[in-house]
Amino acid sequence: MKIAFASDHAGYNLKKELIAFIKELDHQALDFGTYSDEPVDYPDYAFPAAEAIAGGIADYGIIICGTGIGVNITANKVTGVRAALCTNEKMAELARQHNNANVLNLGARIIDLELAKKITQTFIEGEFLGGRHMIRIEKIHFLTGN
Ligand code: RB5
Repeated sequence: MKIAFASDHAGYNLKKELIAFIKELDHQALDFGTYSDEPVDYPDYAFPAAEAIAGGIADYGIIICGTGIGVNITANKVTGVRAALCTNEKMAELARQHNNANVLNLGARIIDLELAKKITQTFIEGEFLGGRHMIRIEKIHFLTGN
């Protein structure tokens, strides 16, 4: 699978580690920056990455900041993106099964590397259940236009 990554400075180290991790799992990584821990503004990285995912250039996105909140708010403004901020494996599993989330958001100041790896693997290996969950996802678009 192709996974698009982006982060701000707070998420930079975790992004680097997770890119190495998903390569170990034989997936491909596309890195939308940032490329150092110099302070930057998270929307400048989250938005282009989210647009790329909505445009179909990657199967999933993993977008990281300090809490995961700023990048989650940003990514969910992009039509076609369903971004889920997950702090445990159960959330990652259900984000795929029920919400068909295509972007995973992580908070580098909230969870440690080992948990972030478990969440990442659970997310990318998860499968959407469809059925009643599909109807609910269609309603998001129908009601909000997004
Ligand atoms: C940066 O200090 C921090 O505000 C950012 O990484 C993020 O947590 C915002 O939601």
